[in-house]
Amino acid sequence: MGESIFLNVGPSSASATDQEPSDALVFFGATGDLAYKQIFPALAQMIRRGTLDVPVIGVAKAGWTLDQLRDRARKSIAEREGQVDEKTFGKLTHLLRYIDGDYQDAKTFESLRKELNGAKRPLHYMAIPPLLFSSVVESLAKSGCAKDARVVLEKPFGQDLESARKLNSTLHSVFPESNIFRIDHYLGKEAVENLLVFRFANILLEPIWNRNYVHSVQITMAEEFGVAGRGRFYDHTGAVRDVIQNHMLQVVAFLAMEPPTSMYHGSLRDERVKVFRMIPPLNPAHLVRGQFNGYRKEPGVDAKSEVETFAALRLEVDSWRWAGVPFLIRAGKRLPVTVTEVLVKLRQPPLGKLKPGSNYFRFRLTPDLSVSLGAQVKRLGPGVQVDQTELSAVYQKKCDELEPYDRLLSDALVGDATLFVRQDAVEAAWSIVDPILGNVTALHPYEPGSWGPVEAERLAADVGGWHNPKK
Ligand code: BG6
Repeated sequence: MGESIFLNVGPSSASATDQEPSDALVFFGATGDLAYKQIFPALAQMIRRGTLDVPVIGVAKAGWTLDQLRDRARKSIAEREGQVDEKTFGKLTHLLRYIDGDYQDAKTFESLRKELNGAKRPLHYMAIPPLLFSSVVESLAKSGCAKDARVVLEKPFGQDLESARKLNSTLHSVFPESNIFRIDHYLGKEAVENLLVFRFANILLEPIWNRNYVHSVQITMAEEFGVAGRGRFYDHTGAVRDVIQNHMLQVVAFLAMEPPTSMYHGSLRDERVKVFRMIPPLNPAHLVRGQFNGYRKEPGVDAKSEVETFAALRLEVDSWRWAGVPFLIRAGKRLPVTVTEVLVKLRQPPLGKLKPGSNYFRFRLTPDLSVSLGAQVKRLGPGVQVDQTELSAVYQKKCDELEPYDRLLSDALVGDATLFVRQDAVEAAWSIVDPILGNVTALHPYEPGSWGPVEAERLAADVGGWHNPKK
């Protein structure tokens, strides 16, 4: 039986009522893509694990009936799981309600209040375009549905620092920060949490996890697919806003943070913010943007779009632990593989003949989870020759692996915000990327299936080049 070491809800400044479980789950955007791909499968998993036993009220404007929503839920679960577990689905059907209505119409929220049927601590989940957040939040308040409620918001949280601040102030006019749960699904990934556990639950890394031993850090988030039908959204977003301001910076935070304490449950969030505050705003000279050939023909994309589908950048964490260690991040669509990997290279041992970069830790975050140590060993045979080798621990996918949305929604229902992004973190992360948003640097074309524009090579030239993860 494992011990919960950092992620338990321990003593906190929140009052006991703040930790009361929610007694209804409302999700806006019930007929949308996110609901289909992520939320219904997560709800089924939550029912199986016993973390969901409250009414689930879907809201959307699609002209649908409850039966149509149930059919959609069935299809979504069948697609994800390959089959439908009827016992679980029966329970979901029993919990599911549906309100069809416009988000601008006060009647939609009156119907919601009736459907909530006196629920004391509803959880409102906004699986809707960010443009609609403010008006839905205001309508929740006006209709009385926001009282003592929690709200869960999907990324992107704002378009830049200024809009994120505005959105935060709208939210705070209705909800206290302790009731706001900003999702970054990377924080709900087992492999990302494992970075923390691997670092701090073992004694071996801590003595070397600093500028004296670490040569450089690289994170590559490669995706073989393109914008996959999300052209309209993506063309207003681009790689920096879509995955670097959030997912990639959160991975940097897990790699670079100081140990959290298990005595105070806000500690993990505090340590992540501290890392963001030590990263100076990015310099456009340390950014290379690319766009794959053919992107401008994607449905929903402007024929003259200057939006990047690839970004490579270099940053520093200006702390006693990390000063001078380059952190390189690269993320792109239509690259050769779909893999997210971290490579932490260690410095050279004082034996000039050894191959540079032979000592490293490699953390595979998606699609599978592994931790590898690169090392040199003696080649068998006469003389003393060295060979490069890798010791790997590969997690087998197990049925008890939690999917991010299952993990995060279950946490939000019981008021545990540890794996959500707090206001100060979201604003600090925008401060880092604000100077590189938009067309501040040239946009380089690249061929689908390549590793992005060659111009990105210069960023990694002095650290031995980019590490290209394998399938
Ligand atoms: C989303 C981005 O947040 O994360 C997508 O909007 C991206 O563009 C996705 O493809 C990647 O998530 P995962 O879990 O598949 O690595």
